[in-house]
Amino acid sequence: MKTIRWGIIGPGSIARKFAQDIRVVPGCSLESVAGRDARRAGAFANANGLPRHHASVRELAEDAGIDAVYIATPHTGHFESAKLMVAQGKAVLVEKPFTVNSREAVELIQAATDAGVFLMEALWTRFLPVYEDIQQWLADGAIGRVRMVSAAFCVRGNQDASLRWLNPALAGGALLDLGVYCLAMQRFAVGAAPLSSCATAVFAPSGVDELLSASVSYPGGVLGQFSCGFAAHGDTSMTIAGESGTIRVPVSFFAARTASLVVGGESRTIERPFLAGGFEYQIAEACRCLRAGLLESPRMPLAETLETMNAMDSMRRAIGLVYPGEVL
Ligand SMILES: NC(=O)c1ccc[n+]([C@@H]2O[C@H](COP(=O)([O-])OP(=O)(O)OC[C@H]3O[C@@H](n4cnc5c(N)ncnc54)[C@H](OP(=O)(O)O)[C@@H]3O)[C@@H](O)[C@H]2O)c1
Repeated sequence: MKTIRWGIIGPGSIARKFAQDIRVVPGCSLESVAGRDARRAGAFANANGLPRHHASVRELAEDAGIDAVYIATPHTGHFESAKLMVAQGKAVLVEKPFTVNSREAVELIQAATDAGVFLMEALWTRFLPVYEDIQQWLADGAIGRVRMVSAAFCVRGNQDASLRWLNPALAGGALLDLGVYCLAMQRFAVGAAPLSSCATAVFAPSGVDELLSASVSYPGGVLGQFSCGFAAHGDTSMTIAGESGTIRVPVSFFAARTASLVVGGESRTIERPFLAGGFEYQIAEACRCLRAGLLESPRMPLAETLETMNAMDSMRRAIGLVYPGEVL
């Protein structure tokens, strides 16, 4: 089995988790990290045992010893870095949200398709073991016809306006940061693209959405609803309601290790612990696809990523959130 040699772009907090979790994935090595500053990239490389580092994204793109990159910069950096890597023939795993808007997403997907390069959104939740059980319950008709999916991702975050998630110049805000999980996992549960949506939001002083609530209509009479935000400690569960039962992910659905199937008053709870921190499953899927010669993952198809980006664009139009310099 050929070792897949990975690099990271963006030596920040989530990149550290990637660097730890990749250690348990067979057939991988983490070779390098690129940032905007040689000292910070070097410190990250030292702390995580990487053999080398780069002081720019372009340097990493030109590193012939890298097969695949994980992009972990703030949202506004995803598109340019991913396009550069694709142009150099490197496989790309890009953090959520895939891009800032669907216009960028379409262009990036086209570039990867034209170049024949693997591309996937790092929506790690999709690959967690508990969702394999949930997928089987849905396929078996354990809860009957799905009619409603609700999800919440409400956590009180640090309120420092300079931080990434409150900064409009970095495409911060609750929808792109947290709502993206709600939409992607609703899509997973419903198995169809959204038809229409409506959204309402409360804005932080910085101008980004700090609380957002949305309803989404899906084909076949299915309704999705979700709320997300950094302003208050709240719910983090997901419920898939069917005509004959319920699947409930009671806490932190985006990082779930447990779920319950409730049918006819009887509840069955499963526990599916992670091997490492949880990113190992998406990394393993990207490696599997690369070895199989696939250009996208059948478990996180680019068409679904694009549907999510389209839904987030229309919700942002509804709440009037356009980022600096953006044409939405
Ligand atoms: N999957 C998950 O569970 C999860 C969790 C948190 C975040 N995320 C996603 O991961 C990405 C990174 O989030 P994070 O929390 O790790 O961010 P972070 O801690 O701020 O790290 C981002 C890194 O990107 C680099 N960077 C490049 N351009 C930058 C810019 N214009 N401004 C600031 N930093 C810049 C910085 O390193 P240099 O300055 O050294 O270049 C920084 O260390 C985001 O897309 C976020 O939505 C995913």
